[in-house]
Amino acid sequence: MSAMTPQQLTKQVLAAYAGTPDPRLRELLTSLITHLHAFATETGLTRQEWLAAVEFLTATGQKCDAERQEFILLSDVLGFSSLVDLINAADGATECTVLGPFYVPGAPTRAMGEQIGRPEDGIPTLVRGRVTDAAGRPLDGATLDVWQSNSDGLYDTQDPQQPPFNLRGVFVTGPDGGYHFRTVRPASYPVPVDGPVGDLLRGAGRHNWRAAHIHLIVSAPGHRPVTTHIFDAENPYLDSDTVFGVKDSLIRPFRPAGPADPPDVSYITEMDFVLAAQ
Ligand SMILES: [Fe+2]
Repeated sequence: MSAMTPQQLTKQVLAAYAGTPDPRLRELLTSLITHLHAFATETGLTRQEWLAAVEFLTATGQKCDAERQEFILLSDVLGFSSLVDLINAADGATECTVLGPFYVPGAPTRAMGEQIGRPEDGIPTLVRGRVTDAAGRPLDGATLDVWQSNSDGLYDTQDPQQPPFNLRGVFVTGPDGGYHFRTVRPASYPVPVDGPVGDLLRGAGRHNWRAAHIHLIVSAPGHRPVTTHIFDAENPYLDSDTVFGVKDSLIRPFRPAGPADPPDVSYITEMDFVLAAQ
């Protein structure tokens, strides 16, 4: 009688889950078990390494609380969040990217052109463009929910000096689909490394900086919303964003304002958004 092989064990485990009544759950479990077993078999995973992984995941869960989501951060730095975004992207629409941990629903609706920050938050910048459908027709009543950090790389929720909903705002387009708002030029910021994900990044020799960006959720009735960023073309972290959020189509120059531009801003960036029908 020969000893059981890893392949035989994998087969046995798969068979035990083959009767899962829900077809989608059955598909997910079958694939998960197949890939998880293959990972251990291929790498010759040791018992010590298995235990280290269990301890790492335990610590990841223990680091989570109402404000801190270490599992999402783990998913982000492994590129898994971006992968799920890619798989679910709508054809022909503006590319999406990570939501990140700093979104707060309920930001105030602001008048078109309004400044969402304060003078001390950074260099005044005008952002403008159009929201259209996939055929290029302007979308009336499209909503842009915008949020970003100040020039120190801090969001209002991280910084007691900033009032609630600072550097956040909701803008609604008119019949021409156009939008414009004032903000500050965004800064790079580090993701937190005082938890297990920090150990992972250090162990891999990776830095923990995000490329500077403005967050937006763009939506319109009858269309699929897009959660995305505008990235600053001059940022040094575009090629190494710690959460793999950068897509070429989302990078925009922040050009110095000229004599024909509004006198109260130093930089101007332009980005159009395309939404696919639902
Ligand atoms: Fe962000």
